[in-house]
Amino acid sequence: MNKIENKMEKVVSLAKRRGFIFPGSEIYGGLAGTWDYGPLGVELKNNIKNLWWKKFVTDREDMFGVDAAIIMNGRVWEASGHVSGFADPLVEDLKTHSRYRADHVLEEAGIDCSGLSPEDMNKIIQEKGIKSPAGNPLGEVQKFNMMFKTNVGANSDAASVSYLRPETAGGIFVNFKNVVDSLHPKLPFGIGQIGKAFRNEIAPRDFIFRSREFEQMEIEYFVKPDGWQEAFEKWRVAMLEWCNDIGLPAENVYEKEIADEDRAHYSKRTIDIEFDYPFGRKELYGLAYRTNYDLSKHQEYSKQSLEYFDEETGQKFVPHVVEPSLGVDRSVLAVLTSAYCEDEVGGETRVFLKLVPKLAPIKMAVFPLLKNRPEIIEKAKAVYGDLKKTFGNVAFDESGNIGKRYRRQDEVGTPFCVTIDFDTIGAGEDASLTDTVTVRERDSGTQTRIALADLKNYLQEKLA
Ligand code: GAP
Repeated sequence: MNKIENKMEKVVSLAKRRGFIFPGSEIYGGLAGTWDYGPLGVELKNNIKNLWWKKFVTDREDMFGVDAAIIMNGRVWEASGHVSGFADPLVEDLKTHSRYRADHVLEEAGIDCSGLSPEDMNKIIQEKGIKSPAGNPLGEVQKFNMMFKTNVGANSDAASVSYLRPETAGGIFVNFKNVVDSLHPKLPFGIGQIGKAFRNEIAPRDFIFRSREFEQMEIEYFVKPDGWQEAFEKWRVAMLEWCNDIGLPAENVYEKEIADEDRAHYSKRTIDIEFDYPFGRKELYGLAYRTNYDLSKHQEYSKQSLEYFDEETGQKFVPHVVEPSLGVDRSVLAVLTSAYCEDEVGGETRVFLKLVPKLAPIKMAVFPLLKNRPEIIEKAKAVYGDLKKTFGNVAFDESGNIGKRYRRQDEVGTPFCVTIDFDTIGAGEDASLTDTVTVRERDSGTQTRIALADLKNYLQEKLA
């Protein structure tokens, strides 16, 4: 990770200033734990999601996609164990009544919370006399359920209770039978989904790292009971490969085996993929072996058979599942913080986002060298229109000197700037340069003269 002072503050400021990410409901003073993606942010996020979907769904023969409802029958979350068990430890400042995550308070006091139950945390707080961040005594540690509860329809009785999904996985498990009945896939196969998840986090923090509304890209990969180790290993490798695809340096990506007592209730093995964020090494993604826990529970609660019939052996069983779970927003944050670079050009600091070209929100920018030369403007507009048809998100900028225009594009990670000058329109000194343009590369600043006829192929190859 490139060492830059106050990198997090700089990334948050750039994200706001250049239209990547804004605080949610900002003109009303905001809403903690919510963020809005702006014009460039939504492009970056969509590029990440599209790359994932292509790599893990459409490019494979053993994968199927779904897009399930966010609000599901409340029984789904009773069956999955989320209603009873999806909780974080909460502790209250007895004076101010502010509420904190107990493990965060303990970690601030230098105590490792791995494997600690709320009761253990309570004991340590009382024994060591640990105070709240405001310096006041703390109450008993309690379990706080993180699901957002709502009522569906005009009634507000027990039967109308539902929840905003806390993980997209639920929508996959309840559609397992639908996918099997309609497409008849053979094991092993997976179902992938990208979508919103909601958690009423006690302490949302670190920009988009921990929010109350976020997106996940999840796969439930169904296997025979004895096939999970092989699938787990393949997905572990695939997840590391994905980190490389989105430009995360391998030396900043780690695997952490999660101890029995720290795993989610449904998991028999979990590896977290961690990443060096500017605020420390934290979870980026998770890979879990969920056994046949979820399908068995949904079978029990829904009274529908979720067994799979193996034609080869004639056996019926509830498939087991390996789950690679990737947070979209944590991917965006990892990508932004590792891409953020500074160097010096002409005695001034240059900020640039070294994004993998495929992920860049703006693929290229077209500049007419001068604003007051109609022939140059006309040619630049024609080139811009043509490139836009092929590459989609292309910028046109005619204001300020070329250096300033480069800086503006560098800051948002645009990999290429195409300049139309006197030579392009045949008004330069060298007639052989007619109908050529300069293509300047973001990271190196190198400029190459390319014939207009070759421009699209040249850029296409560079963007591949
Ligand atoms: N279906 C499994 C599951 O949801 P998880 O570890 O709770 O497991 C998976 O979440 C991923 O979702 C995390 O690795 C992270 O990338 C993302 N994630 C979880 N909580 C988040 C939050 N509050 N804000 C942003 N991303 C979050």
